[in-house]
Amino acid sequence: MKTDKIRSLFLQFFKEKNHIIVKSGSLIPKNDNTLLFTNAGMNQFKEIYLGYKKNHTSSYTSSQYCIRTGGKHNDFNKVGYEPYHHTLFEMLGNFSFGEYFKETSIVYAWEFLTHKNWLNMSKKKIWITYYYNDIETKNIWLNKIKIKPNHLITIYDKNNIEYHSNNFWKMGNSGPCGPCTEIFYDTRKKNNTIKNHDELKKYCVEIWNLVFMQFNQTKSNKLIELPIPSVDTGMGLERISAVLQNVSSSYETDNFIKLIQFIKKNIKIKSYNYISLRIIADHIRTATCLISEKVIPGNEGRSYVLRRIIRRVLSHGYFIGLHKPFFYKLSEFIINSMKQMDLDFNISSNINFIKKTLLSEEQQFYRILKIGMHKLKKEIIVNQNKKLCEKKIFHLYETFGLPIEITQDICKEKKISINFQKLNQIIESNKKKQKKKNIKKIQNNSCLIYVTKKSIFDGYYEYVKKSKITQIIYKNQSVLCLSEKCIGTLVLDITPFYGESSGQIGDSGTITNEKGKFIVHDTQKNGNFIAHQGYLEKGILHVGKNVVAKIDVNKRKKIQSNHTALHLLHAALIKKFGLNVIQKGSYINNEYFRFDFICNNNITEKDIQKLEIIINKKIQKNIKINAIITSFSRAKKYKAVYLSSKKYKNTVRMICINNFSIELCSGTHHKSTGKIGCFKIIKNKNIGNSIKRITAITGINVILYIQKKTQKEKKIKKLLNNNSNDTYKSIKNLVKKIHCIEKEKKDLTNQNILQISKNLMSKAYIINNISIIVSYISHLKYTMLTNISDIIKQKKESVIMILINKNTSITRFLISVTNNIIQYINAVDIMNIMLSLLSGTGGGNKNIVKGKLNNKNITPTEIKKIKKKIIKHVYKNNVYK
Ligand code: SER
Repeated sequence: MKTDKIRSLFLQFFKEKNHIIVKSGSLIPKNDNTLLFTNAGMNQFKEIYLGYKKNHTSSYTSSQYCIRTGGKHNDFNKVGYEPYHHTLFEMLGNFSFGEYFKETSIVYAWEFLTHKNWLNMSKKKIWITYYYNDIETKNIWLNKIKIKPNHLITIYDKNNIEYHSNNFWKMGNSGPCGPCTEIFYDTRKKNNTIKNHDELKKYCVEIWNLVFMQFNQTKSNKLIELPIPSVDTGMGLERISAVLQNVSSSYETDNFIKLIQFIKKNIKIKSYNYISLRIIADHIRTATCLISEKVIPGNEGRSYVLRRIIRRVLSHGYFIGLHKPFFYKLSEFIINSMKQMDLDFNISSNINFIKKTLLSEEQQFYRILKIGMHKLKKEIIVNQNKKLCEKKIFHLYETFGLPIEITQDICKEKKISINFQKLNQIIESNKKKQKKKNIKKIQNNSCLIYVTKKSIFDGYYEYVKKSKITQIIYKNQSVLCLSEKCIGTLVLDITPFYGESSGQIGDSGTITNEKGKFIVHDTQKNGNFIAHQGYLEKGILHVGKNVVAKIDVNKRKKIQSNHTALHLLHAALIKKFGLNVIQKGSYINNEYFRFDFICNNNITEKDIQKLEIIINKKIQKNIKINAIITSFSRAKKYKAVYLSSKKYKNTVRMICINNFSIELCSGTHHKSTGKIGCFKIIKNKNIGNSIKRITAITGINVILYIQKKTQKEKKIKKLLNNNSNDTYKSIKNLVKKIHCIEKEKKDLTNQNILQISKNLMSKAYIINNISIIVSYISHLKYTMLTNISDIIKQKKESVIMILINKNTSITRFLISVTNNIIQYINAVDIMNIMLSLLSGTGGGNKNIVKGKLNNKNITPTEIKKIKKKIIKHVYKNNVYK
């Protein structure tokens, strides 16, 4: 049975059981920061499970695309090596919220799997697990389904930790959870028995998981009963296809076979490694889908996962001989095969964007690989092919992006040992450091956790408000009053203070009454919870007392100039580069604003100038700005710009600067554009693949910026000390002069080197026509030794030379032997002779060896001794007679 047929049968089965078919939800969970990616079919119903959203039609069914490469469910390392794991897979599921529970869902699953009208699978091959204290489920299987008792396996908690079990399913570290019963299929040819859990894992494949959602796990690890017990089931489509198509891995099912054939056709190489092929096949599906959801390879969060996926493929590609971009071409197959699917994310309209993004990541990776490989090879030579320090491997990865897998494989090939335990320790400790940094970031707004009273924000156009203190937080506790000079958080019933959100920083100002004056440094917000953080400069403040809340108006006006200018910039970019400009993030304060966005075009200096003109013209026109409260669907009709990663409520706030810019936004803005004064872009750079960052300033800050620049220019003029008005021309002349001087210096050095080389040749000891040179050169850079060696080799046919150099505190050497004699004596032999007299290390090839000596100073006597020993060796061994 074909995979597509199985999917449609499943949906049809549950449709006949009165379920509503829903689309596969987005791969990026909306408004849910507990998850990196959609990891199960139930995610799109999370709010219904938790009782936050009332459900009117009770049961649904879907085929949901899931990603399991991060967070609680992470199969990344298994992919390619194990038969049924994928980073992206389709999960067939049925979901009920109060309509039916354990018995009906088990009866449905059994009917779909075993009834002749549906999948018609052999009952003898099916095995079931249940959670040890879920006796109701056990009895349904035994008494209702009449499964043989020996086909039922009890699963306990791991390490005796309550609810920590294969049969207690959790969405993430928090969220809906509950006991589950899993259905397994024995893949062996004969009908054998399964005695325990270990045999089950060895011989069977898990095909369906029926979860009975009963609890919500809170962030503090408490389990709270859900308002209505619900059902969430999930069956991996790729797995059930493998079972029904009687193949031993999901990579051999119909759709995967087609994909792998396409890959083979597109990447012509001599021999295919099947693990690499599987990894390529799996990862191209995930990468294509993620990019279609506007995730861009990068160094954090989702972007980092995507980058890891792509770089792993490229590393595997590298080992099977693919040294040029190839991966981007494969996305076409995925796009074509998914075109017909009813998805909540749009794949086919993003075809160019997906290809361009992949190609540019590939190009960047190959550049990194080239530098990284060069550094690695150098490191291997210096360490004489023996051992590579783990810190160095990590450094190559962290600084040059050289994947650890590649370093490992090269070391394996060269038989260089790596201490994996030590390497893992370094990786782990680095992760911890990173985590600490992130925690610090989060702590910044941790006061919000303690805010329990809601506030009304009334500060779009009002800057002073009479309000009442509803809560005071001091040292993470709610208190009744705050005393003089104490740092704390105040919550008010109504406030003109804007809490940090939509990229806009929070307001500062004062909260006062006759008894006290509180200085607000920052305002944070989460929904209707608004926290004023600051300190009580004088007096005392009590909960329940009236106060006057007054924001720093001057600062706010500067912030909103920047915010409105950001909308103008966003609109101008869309007008110029089209809808492929997608907002990725923003930061707005009273000094400047930053706008991060995806754009495949290169933004030139000319574009920047044009943007500045367009925006300043809009400012001069003093266009009225309207903030309109409307419905989300109406806003979409107006073609308002909004964030696709954000879930909007039905009622939204739309900021309109006539038809030029219409954008959903909760931030604060001026009433007309003239208030911005003027606008200037101060930075334009690429901060990642296709992600650009523009930094700009407005109003008085533009004047200050220009004054600073002018001041600097004046200083430069003074420094140039000439009367010319054209600073650019003066500097150009100066640069020209520097180049000339540098050239002269280089010529002098070359002459010097030539002279040194001549001297060395004149002092060479000649035996059997071979010139033997051993010399200590201290006044040149080490890199110059190679030039000397090259000059001498050009002039003399047969040379053995040791050049020792001490320009810095390190004593280094270069040994060079001409090609015609390396069959008798090579550079490594010479090094060994030298190292029998002096201690040190080095490595290289038969022609050239480089290394370090441990002796700080080399005496003329030592030089003589080395020379003598080499002459003796040449003489004794009749070299080149
Ligand atoms: N949520 C459960 C799982 O992912 C069942 O769908 O296994």
